[in-house]
Amino acid sequence: MGESVAAIVLAAGQGTRMKSALPKCLHEVCGMPIVGHILLALRGAEVVRPVVVVGKGGEEMIEALSDRGFALEFVWQREQLGTGHAALMAKEILSDHQGPVVIMAGDTPLVSAEALIELIKTHRESGAHCTVATVKMPDPEKYGRIIRSASGEFDAIIEYRDADAHQRNINEVNTGIYVVDGPTLFRILPTLKAENDQKEYYLTDIVSVLRKEGKPVATHVFTDADTFLGVNDRWQLAQAEKIMRLRIAKLHALNGVTIRDPDTTYIGVEVQIGQDATIEPGTTISGQTTIGSGSRVGPYTIVDRSTLGSRVTAFMSRISEAEIGDDVKIGPFANIRPLSKIGNGSKIGNFVEVKKSKLGPKVAVSHLSYIGDASIGADSNIGAGTITCNYDGFQKHLTTIGAGAFVGSNSTLVAPITIGDGAFVAAGSVITEDIPADALGIARGRQEVKEGWAQRWRNKNKVNQ
Ligand code: UD1
Ligand code: MG
Repeated sequence: MGESVAAIVLAAGQGTRMKSALPKCLHEVCGMPIVGHILLALRGAEVVRPVVVVGKGGEEMIEALSDRGFALEFVWQREQLGTGHAALMAKEILSDHQGPVVIMAGDTPLVSAEALIELIKTHRESGAHCTVATVKMPDPEKYGRIIRSASGEFDAIIEYRDADAHQRNINEVNTGIYVVDGPTLFRILPTLKAENDQKEYYLTDIVSVLRKEGKPVATHVFTDADTFLGVNDRWQLAQAEKIMRLRIAKLHALNGVTIRDPDTTYIGVEVQIGQDATIEPGTTISGQTTIGSGSRVGPYTIVDRSTLGSRVTAFMSRISEAEIGDDVKIGPFANIRPLSKIGNGSKIGNFVEVKKSKLGPKVAVSHLSYIGDASIGADSNIGAGTITCNYDGFQKHLTTIGAGAFVGSNSTLVAPITIGDGAFVAAGSVITEDIPADALGIARGRQEVKEGWAQRWRNKNKVNQ
């Protein structure tokens, strides 16, 4: 190991081509802002001091990254005068940094830690003052072109818009990632000139400056073009999402998760899945979600910011910000909403909505119910069509159901209400008073049976016809 490595992430650009109110680098790829992916890659490459250059929408960016627990430093670029000017803004923080500095655009979400490690290694080994990561692209579009001398020596980077027809034919491009020795970087950046089509200070010009000084500049030629996809518009955002999605699916598959159809499975970067779980088609798993081993999620299921235990089945359902124990069966068409906690071995069946409720182990709510602001003890059975009436038009009230209770079908429990351990609620009741343990609560019209009534009714009507 040599000296510690710092980094500058350029994320102050407006991102005009995105046509968005949101700063470009905050757009998400697989549930993580683009710039967040870069910070993860830098962390993986053991870069110690990531400095993010922010500008348009900077407050939003600082907040979003801090909320996600990234420890980093920010500098402002108040006017977007180009990538060279943006990198210069980091001088106030990194001027005393003697080691290498990785500089990268904040719009390349697919860059991996491995690629950065390789690049840093090349830089250290070559002894160059600057090492540029390049890649050969079959369709190099508008990326900056790598200009080499007849002997193949790296000479300069020319932006697409400044390039002539011959230069545009070159398919080796600038990835926008560089490693430059700290003191060299901050010596050259203030000397750059905005002499180009865009009248911007181009970071890429440090290469030509070093070449003119006769200083060694190295390249590391990568082969996988996808890794360096720069997101400048929404179509590139969609391409990045697709590549990242398959990458994540593959990672889980190689870790022992069955991904039935990677093309229709959406798994966020922060998701963890245990061995022998199966993810069925049409499923979206997002946020900081954990799925235990042997679970089966999907088809057509959405799980967001939730924890699922082992051997859970969640079939055609939605689970959001909830905690699900082991061996729980969910769905089809269940909607488990935030702050719900479902105990081991429970069942949440079809057309059941659960909100902010705590269910003990082995509770069955098998059909057509609304359980909101409730707590239900172990082994209770909640019949089809049971509704907790938690809202009086002004406030939410709690329903407490003990362990081993039995709530008959189509019961209406008007909260606040308590139903004791082992109590029974007769089917079709509207319960407005507490029911003690082991008691029966019945609240419905008493049935009357009129013998022979139907026959008399038919006879009477026949006579009148
Ligand atoms: C840049 C490179 C190009 C390379 C491509 C790779 C330059 C001049 N060109 O072009 O050679 O092939 O990346 O993706 O560097 N930014 C600022 N402040 C500014 C301008 C830009 O912070 O004043 C940031 C942007 O937010 C963005 C990054 O720098 O994250 C790159 O800027 P962008 O406009 O996307 O440059 P490209 O045209 O993609
Ligand atoms: Mg770009």
